[in-house]
Amino acid sequence: MALSDFDLVLFGGGGDLAMRKLLPALYNRERAKDIPPDARIVCVGRHDWTRESFIEEVNRSSRPHTASGSPDPAVWDAFCRRIDYVALDATDAASYERLVNAMRKPDANRPVTRVFYLATPPSLFAKICHNLSQSGLATPESRVVLEKPLGRDLASARQINAEVGRVFSESQIFRIDHYLGKETVQNLLALRFGNVLFEPLWRREWISDVQITIAEELGVGNRMDYYETAGALRDMLQNHLLQLLCIVAMEPPVSATPDAVRDEKLKVLRSLKRFTPNSIAQNVVRGQYRSGHVQGTPVPGYRKEPDANPSSRTETYVALKAEIDTWRWAGVPFYLRTGKRMADQLAEIVVRFKTIPHSIFAQPNRSFQANSLIIRLQPDEGLQMNLMAKTPGDGMRLRPVELELDFRETFKMPRMEAYERLLLDVLRGQLTLFMRADELEAAWEWVEPILEYWEQEGDEPMPYTSGTWGPPAASALIGRDGLQWREEA
Ligand code: BG6
Repeated sequence: MALSDFDLVLFGGGGDLAMRKLLPALYNRERAKDIPPDARIVCVGRHDWTRESFIEEVNRSSRPHTASGSPDPAVWDAFCRRIDYVALDATDAASYERLVNAMRKPDANRPVTRVFYLATPPSLFAKICHNLSQSGLATPESRVVLEKPLGRDLASARQINAEVGRVFSESQIFRIDHYLGKETVQNLLALRFGNVLFEPLWRREWISDVQITIAEELGVGNRMDYYETAGALRDMLQNHLLQLLCIVAMEPPVSATPDAVRDEKLKVLRSLKRFTPNSIAQNVVRGQYRSGHVQGTPVPGYRKEPDANPSSRTETYVALKAEIDTWRWAGVPFYLRTGKRMADQLAEIVVRFKTIPHSIFAQPNRSFQANSLIIRLQPDEGLQMNLMAKTPGDGMRLRPVELELDFRETFKMPRMEAYERLLLDVLRGQLTLFMRADELEAAWEWVEPILEYWEQEGDEPMPYTSGTWGPPAASALIGRDGLQWREEA
């Protein structure tokens, strides 16, 4: 579907996210000829740039993040011509006049979609929405995009929802979780609901456990200010990992319409077994990286990173066992983990099936590896199905084999970054891949007892050496159920 004309206003337009992800994503769509001829991108920030000096900044900080770092010069120039810059203090109502002047006026004969993308700290969301409303910029047709973190607990998430909700209705609000824009996450929907093969097996009778991992080699980088107030549970688990869990575990929605999908995801979040102090002590592990080597390069520990608090108790790793109290999933453990400075950079979902009930071959049951389906999100996107097959030749000897589907190889088409797809969806008004207010609150509600427990207990995250798979307690957590993390098996 072609995009209609738009004015996209990027608050935090000079910031890291805009420079590294959003502007390069928009450039890629420019190159793909998706952007209508008159569409405009108005970057807003506190810095006193003129339009010309801002474009210089875009050349310096954003251009290297386009594919291969060297965009087509003519397309890049055309893209830059769309960009304007407005310096304003987002909290100062009077300065919005400048933004009003930079935008096209509503014209019934030439409709222009207005999108306000708030890539700012969440403490500014309410103020910005209020000022957009007061200045007349927010109209019933305009849309607002909220970047994470969407709160730091249930109360703050509710407050954001309430305050933004005073200006924009739910159908105008796009809460971003960029994991939902990843190709493989959507392919998981295709896999589950575009084939009959999996659905009959997709339940407690045939699935033994599910592992969801997002492991990063990177450390905290230059985001210490933010990360120290967040930690891995807030930064990754409450949003990205829980969203992946929802897509794996949800019931088939009646259609792919936004609310049909989001209703089913919400039901999963509401069916997650609640944690108690006892079950947290048993089923949740948090860690913090110490110095070590990542891919052979020495790296400092979290407490020695620039601007670190030397006695910080912020977790850079979390692993937990979740359970879903429904007929489909009762008794099936979902192990979730994420960490920084880990042994490898990967994101994957591993669905392990049960072992065969009885061996008709000379080999004993235990020599049969359980079937598993590995859904790889990163670094290379694909599916792997592990089966048992006969070894060629004389005799009947079975061994595990892998069926591989590499999306890049199969489709031989340029891939789209998560932000490209999500920006296109915003501009088209397509809400399916965005979190609804009640989903966001349900996710916070579920993780909140863990946050409270850590606060009250006052104990330290467990140390782990950079370049490993996290604290040994995480292996023990899954080991208690007689299982292993895939990389440790
Ligand atoms: C962000 C987190 O949401 O996701 C970062 O704030 C993290 O800490 C990033 O590094 C990971 O995203 P991706 O797409 O690189 O796996």
